[in-house]
Amino acid sequence: DERMRGRDFLSLHDFTRDEIFYLLDVAKELKALQKAGKPHRLLEGKTLGMIFTKSSTRTRVSFEVGMYQLGGSALFLSSADIQLGRGEPIKDTARVLSRYVDGIMIRTFAHEDVVELAKYADIPVINGLTDLLHPCQVLADLLTIVEHKGKTDGLKMTYIGDGNNMAHELMYGGAKAGMHVVICTPEGYEPDAEVVRLATEDAKANGGSITLMNDPVEASKDADVLYTDVWASMGQEGEANVRANAFQGFQINGTIMKVAKPDTIVLHCLPAHRGEEITDEVIEGPNSVVFDEAENRLHAQKAIMAVVM
Ligand code: CP
Ligand code: NVA
Repeated sequence: DERMRGRDFLSLHDFTRDEIFYLLDVAKELKALQKAGKPHRLLEGKTLGMIFTKSSTRTRVSFEVGMYQLGGSALFLSSADIQLGRGEPIKDTARVLSRYVDGIMIRTFAHEDVVELAKYADIPVINGLTDLLHPCQVLADLLTIVEHKGKTDGLKMTYIGDGNNMAHELMYGGAKAGMHVVICTPEGYEPDAEVVRLATEDAKANGGSITLMNDPVEASKDADVLYTDVWASMGQEGEANVRANAFQGFQINGTIMKVAKPDTIVLHCLPAHRGEEITDEVIEGPNSVVFDEAENRLHAQKAIMAVVM
């Protein structure tokens, strides 16, 4: 399928439902090949530049290993070391890298910086997380949900925590996948209103819904999927104490597990803070699929790279 070649991957909102399910199919196929030890060198000789202005374990390792398994290579470009970190404009970085590599993955703070990079680069740009969105994570999450539940359509997915990049992308991805997405935050930490508006339109078109709530127990009733994320994201370290107070009770724990469906699956993008947004008991418990989910970052991103690059 050549239709998606050359596209940027900035948000699941930019892709149709069919395109998202196509990416999931490719991910499943690549996962099966890798598990069978069969070569799948679809990007032989290609190079991915990976710009990081924030920390990462999963994103960095899965992109680098994924590129290697696809027959290409990846360059880790820390903003501490490249001229971007000393003020070289994004638009210049974009055009220079476009002359050397075949794709760019970027993890940074402002989403607009990624949009600008994509505008000036003439190769695909993949969003490896911004303050606004985290599309690679949610593609991996959808893959995990399909593997464990056999479908996404009609499932209730409850997210408990901050109205952050994860909440936003789960609304975009869940909406396209026909899910009933409930975002449960403390008052004052609701998701971005424009993202809610766009996701609500997408949800309606696909038989799903978006609901905002402030009561975690009420929100979790009969949930098929429970999701949470850290209370203070990268860049919000200074707010950690204020947030720790505001988010009391916004935790996936035994009480929440009792009201969700017995076969609910628990997801977390990781890294997790046990005792804050989730208890050790739940993350280590039988409903947790967080390590399948982390593994699926590799397979989902290989699909993205194989399709757009
Ligand atoms: N979930 C996730 O993106 O993890 P990293 O910050 O380790 O990349
Ligand atoms: N919301 C978290 C996600 C980390 C993968 C952050 O932005 O730090």
